[in-house]
Amino acid sequence: MGCNQPTNTQGGVSSTSSTASQVGIDFLEQGGNAFDAIVATGFTLAVTSPSNGNLGGGGFLVAYTKDGGAVSLDFREEAPALSYETMFLDENDEYSRELALNSHKSSGVPGTVNGLVKIFNDYGSGNFTLEEIMAPAIHYAENGYHISSTTASGLDYYKSLFLNDRGATEIFVKEIDNTILGLQKALKDGSISKEDYAKELAKIDQWKKGDLLVQIDLANTLKRIAKNGSAGFYEGETAELIIQEMNTNDGFITKKDLLNYDSVYRNPVQGTYRGNKVISMGPPSSGGALLIQMLNMIENFDIKSMERNSSRFVHLLTEVQRLAYADRAIHLGDPDFWPNPIPMLTSKDYAKERLSLISMDSATRSTEIAAGKALSKESVETTHYSVMDNQGNVVGITTTLNMSYGSKKVVDGAGFLLNNEMDDFSSKPGTANAFGLIGYKANAIQPFKRPLSSMSPTVVIDNEGNPIVTIGAAGGSRIITAVLQNIISIIDHELDIQQAIDFPRTHSQWLPDNLRYEKDALTQQTISELEALNHIFEHSGTVENGVYSLAQTHGVHFKDNKFITGFDKRGTYDENEGITY
Ligand code: GLY
Repeated sequence: MGCNQPTNTQGGVSSTSSTASQVGIDFLEQGGNAFDAIVATGFTLAVTSPSNGNLGGGGFLVAYTKDGGAVSLDFREEAPALSYETMFLDENDEYSRELALNSHKSSGVPGTVNGLVKIFNDYGSGNFTLEEIMAPAIHYAENGYHISSTTASGLDYYKSLFLNDRGATEIFVKEIDNTILGLQKALKDGSISKEDYAKELAKIDQWKKGDLLVQIDLANTLKRIAKNGSAGFYEGETAELIIQEMNTNDGFITKKDLLNYDSVYRNPVQGTYRGNKVISMGPPSSGGALLIQMLNMIENFDIKSMERNSSRFVHLLTEVQRLAYADRAIHLGDPDFWPNPIPMLTSKDYAKERLSLISMDSATRSTEIAAGKALSKESVETTHYSVMDNQGNVVGITTTLNMSYGSKKVVDGAGFLLNNEMDDFSSKPGTANAFGLIGYKANAIQPFKRPLSSMSPTVVIDNEGNPIVTIGAAGGSRIITAVLQNIISIIDHELDIQQAIDFPRTHSQWLPDNLRYEKDALTQQTISELEALNHIFEHSGTVENGVYSLAQTHGVHFKDNKFITGFDKRGTYDENEGITY
């Protein structure tokens, strides 16, 4: 357990938590299918990966079933009935980061529980009850699990925000000692600034790798879900606790919002890349459409002959990303509210038309690139998990709370964190959200609308109809470009999924007009060559404390008759945190 790349012929599970992956593996071994395994892994992640695994957030599933069906389920959060377009603008009509990210208003109606239960009911093997599937998650919440150093460091880092919330303090702050009390007093009497207070608190190491995190309220919520399905969350005691939390903290979510919530099966976005079928998530995710658009453009080039991460390769990627993200800002939003031009964006002809706007000799300025005319938005706060079984089912789920630990607010008595997904809407036309993404009308806030996402769970099927890869990522706007580079590595450069994931990446997204790169991605010479092509670099922030930061990908790859699972070490401090099967 815990090594990076074991393989076998039974199936594969990959997630950010070794404990959660092991749960999925156990269900595969006990005769479950990939859907049983992924739902069991998902509920366990809500316990063992608190920064991003969740009950209080939302996500997407993309799958290819053993019968050849492509499936996608949208269980994205939804704007509450009381929400309105300008709700995150302050008295000066400026976007308020505090309101959009750290308030109870920042939470959309959670979709994860509805989604996971629906997947289990509709696609599970029928060999297990929901109570059986959720028993391991309940066990780890009730009896505790030993935290990783990544979780220990995250919990300490966010102390100042947890301390603003009673529920979060109870679970995630280990001890309110004299140092903390002293800092709180200093903040109150004004002898320390808010920024210095947060910095000083973050320096206090309380949690250690291996500490036991017990979450009793969460265990009780999970038990209600296990017994009553979705109703155990959207109705009854859990719903009452959510409403109480909202009412006492000026949140918008009502009882009716909870009762109205339902996940939606949507047409997955499909395309081809060098003869392979690519199936990914459509709106309200931008991921699938942008991925296929970029693959369509790249297909026109002999990538295999291009040296990986050479200036020519990175130039092409950057230009293609620029074109696709320009389209994202204008054209994409919740399909129930906005006519997304998916056929256009994913057509091979449109890809060629867009390519005519760029040159291989010089970088285009993003201000010169507009969106195409239609005929008619980490830190890694998201998490992706993938399962393949040996019956032919291939599944990927990406879920998110938006930022790390969501809004850092726990529903009192229910033990789970609330998302701050409302920031994925475009709060003010042309103004960047937490991921630097801008948007306009297509992604403006409206009641019952779902915010545009970058989550890109993706499945690739070879030209003989055999599933070869299920992959996805965490990392906000960097998700799509990470999945893109992994697919290129697997198909064009014939790497296995672990090699593909390990390969250093670059990222750009139209605006801001710059190119980011990971440690070791580019040589100094390549950087000089790209600068000569007029590329602008974002050198800072690409590597934090020596840790890679351009998205975190997980997936399973069927290659040479075995399942190879890929785990991304970016953002983790433990060498063996993830498990593969
Ligand atoms: N919350 C990030 C995303 O959904 O893209």
